[in-house]
Amino acid sequence: MKEITDKPKPKHALSSMQCPAHLSDVDLFGTGACEHWYEAYDILHREAPVHKIPGEGFAPGTDAFILTKHEDIAAVVRDQERFPLPGSLMVQQLCAAEADPFETPNVNIMMAAMTTLRPNPQMWRSHRQELTDPWVGPGAGRNEAMVNRVAQELIDRWIERGTVEFVSEFAQPLPQMVMANVLGWPMEDLKLLKYYGDGTVKPFVYGSGHRNILPQEEIDSQFEVLAEFKAYTQELITRKRARPAEDMISFLTQVEYSPLARRLADDEINGVVYAMVIGGLETTQYALAEQVQLLIEHPDVWRQLKAERGLVRAFTEEAMRLRAPTQGLSTRITSQDEVFQGVRVPKGSFLHLRWAAANIDPQEWDEPQTLRLDRKAGTRHLTFSQGARVCPGASLSRLEQVVAWNRLLDAVEEFEYTDDNNFLHQPGIMLATDHLNLAVRRAGAPSTGNT
Ligand code: HEM
Repeated sequence: MKEITDKPKPKHALSSMQCPAHLSDVDLFGTGACEHWYEAYDILHREAPVHKIPGEGFAPGTDAFILTKHEDIAAVVRDQERFPLPGSLMVQQLCAAEADPFETPNVNIMMAAMTTLRPNPQMWRSHRQELTDPWVGPGAGRNEAMVNRVAQELIDRWIERGTVEFVSEFAQPLPQMVMANVLGWPMEDLKLLKYYGDGTVKPFVYGSGHRNILPQEEIDSQFEVLAEFKAYTQELITRKRARPAEDMISFLTQVEYSPLARRLADDEINGVVYAMVIGGLETTQYALAEQVQLLIEHPDVWRQLKAERGLVRAFTEEAMRLRAPTQGLSTRITSQDEVFQGVRVPKGSFLHLRWAAANIDPQEWDEPQTLRLDRKAGTRHLTFSQGARVCPGASLSRLEQVVAWNRLLDAVEEFEYTDDNNFLHQPGIMLATDHLNLAVRRAGAPSTGNT
């Protein structure tokens, strides 16, 4: 199989940043950086696997460090005591304060709900097992028929046309419609789900620097969107409490949460919904959009999947390894002095965990940049993180990806790029193709030679 690095890189020509050649050129967060991330990871692995960002630590006077080694990141995410999340520290502060977290200004409803539903690791586990696992975790299989129906409905909208804008006509609406069905969100308000989803996700992915800091006016307007989102969800909760249906919000109005020995309050449910909407939409969209590009660039793999559907899961895992949607997050702090790869990292430093770089760490993977369907333990990539804080929606996302490719493999003989792609990724920390025009040959349709 061919190396990804052998492929032409149309994105490079469009990037406003030069491709880095030396460590001094590496900047993962500047404008246009996303078009060169994988070349930057090669340089970091060779020369600076623990890369300092001076003055950007958590505690005053400390620094941030970009971790790129699989072994380092896997160790960090497995130890919550030594490497707490900044969010957990905030939850501890809110718990210690006298004020009601649900009434505290600038505290979003998800964070407020954490103070009552999951203030410590034991309750974090219960929250998963009792509230989210049955719908988006190990219990996500209950959604299989619905995901198949949604994928087929989307394909039917464009399969006869011979072209598709793959992002807006498949990769984006699929997780939106799936999440709406899971939650019990009215389908006629799908646009609102996207609008609120953009509002919740913005501070996590679009801002500048490793912490995604947004300008103040954007923070203010984001709080207005979040207030609308909260009011809308509250109405939904009220309706579902009165007339429960077979969906996650109805379930949350009824379930008895064992650590508190009571049902959830409306604001607590609102906080859980917020978390589902942050995590459940864009991430899977970006995974699907990268996967179609990998398959166009590897026609041999496309043919293999057509012939042997049992390989689809290996493909989606390998694609998530090679093109992680969430490339990195500044999501842990050092609670004591540490040493990674011989580099001293003092207490109070910010750790930027670069999942995508760990996924191509040559110490962890043979032929790290090659798409291979025969990897042993291919799920050990860090795209969903690992340990107690591993992404709670990983099972749902995996289901969506596998179903999507099975339905696409049934319906499509071949995808090809058309000439009018801009191929740019959106700025931020996601590997996010913003639009992708493709020619499509329907399965069973005669070949014209040029799709
Ligand atoms: C390809 C798709 C996805 C990727 C790449 C992804 C990635 C991640 C990563 C890296 C984290 C951070 C884990 C840590 O800090 O250790 C995370 C957390 C999270 N993800 Fe995902 N995720 C995806 C899909 C989903 C879906 C479908 C949902 C919801 C249905 C979801 C909900 C969440 C939530 C709520 C968190 C925060 C942790 C928590 O509240 O328990 N994610 N995800």
